[in-house]
Amino acid sequence: EKAGFDHFMLKEIHEQPQAYRDTMMGRISEDGKSVDLKEVEMTDEQIKAISKIHIVACGTAYHAGLVGKTVIESLARIPVETDVASEYRYRSPIITPDTLVIVVSQSGETADTLAALREAKRNDARVLAITNVVGSSIARDADDVITTWAGPEIAVASTKAYSSQLIAFYLLGLYLAQVRGTKTQDEITEVIDAMKQLPEQVERILEQSDIYKQVAEAVSKHSNLFFIGRGLDFAVAQEGSLKLKEISYIHSEAYPAGELKHGTLALIEEGIPVISLVTQEELYEKTLSNIKEVKARGAHVLAIANAGSEAEVGRSVDELFAIPKTLPILTPALSVVPLQLLSYHASLALGHDVDKPRNLAKSVTVE
Ligand code: M6R
Repeated sequence: EKAGFDHFMLKEIHEQPQAYRDTMMGRISEDGKSVDLKEVEMTDEQIKAISKIHIVACGTAYHAGLVGKTVIESLARIPVETDVASEYRYRSPIITPDTLVIVVSQSGETADTLAALREAKRNDARVLAITNVVGSSIARDADDVITTWAGPEIAVASTKAYSSQLIAFYLLGLYLAQVRGTKTQDEITEVIDAMKQLPEQVERILEQSDIYKQVAEAVSKHSNLFFIGRGLDFAVAQEGSLKLKEISYIHSEAYPAGELKHGTLALIEEGIPVISLVTQEELYEKTLSNIKEVKARGAHVLAIANAGSEAEVGRSVDELFAIPKTLPILTPALSVVPLQLLSYHASLALGHDVDKPRNLAKSVTVE
């Protein structure tokens, strides 16, 4: 049932190209010019009336929601807040009937996320669920459902569910943009064209899986490390850090690159690995200057960067891992893959149970 792979996690990492294709299938028009989300029953009037969006989820799904915020805000220009579900209800969020609440959950059974959904409904908000399990509690209780067609995810560490949630957010962002007229036809076509390339681009990253094994072995000798990035790179950094903690038990923290000097830089010492994500062109220069700050204090800097940026980024870092180039907004769907492989191999190098890490359950049905 592991289809020749040593672990479910590795199998699921390799299933991502198919998960992307399946999640996009039937949702992009044949001419490649528009997104059609038939399962979303919201009328155009209701979509136009949305004044704000709350994205609520836990763990990895929350990290997908952080990417979702930027995606929706930039494509559809609707203000979005992303909340951890166990915090949401207790901060008395301002939920109005024109608020769209998006809950994200692989299993569709997470107790805190379900409770957030109910809180939203009590306040007459419309709830849209992004979930991987048809007929789950969250899918049943939501007004609209976008199913991620990632297929069953067995490993406790979420991989293909996260990246398929990103695809769902891209589709939703485009759909909202079409209805609200916030993007031109050319801009929409450009994003759709680039999305169609993603499965093949992930395949290219997976072909180089071995290089991440070597890095992981070096990383697994440390008990502390940092992930840094700006913008969407920071969102992915948070997911990379969670993945590593969850299965390798190595402590790491994700930081917005520009925030280090406000305290955390004090922790940088000789030899500490700093994994930096440098994929957002507009922010290159700023992130590179933060990389210089950690290098000056002896950090060993590994970078995930776009193919073609080797000259620019490469000279400021110790090791560079290039990922295929896509639009900045779509990059998380690629840049997360090396981080998944890194965590997987680090866990293996340390002899841990990759698919069933200690203290954790696949589905968390207590609050
Ligand atoms: O099923 P859900 O997406 O609601 O689960 C949420 C989290 O418990 C889950 O993503 C968890 O953080 C993963 N084990 C991370 O890999």
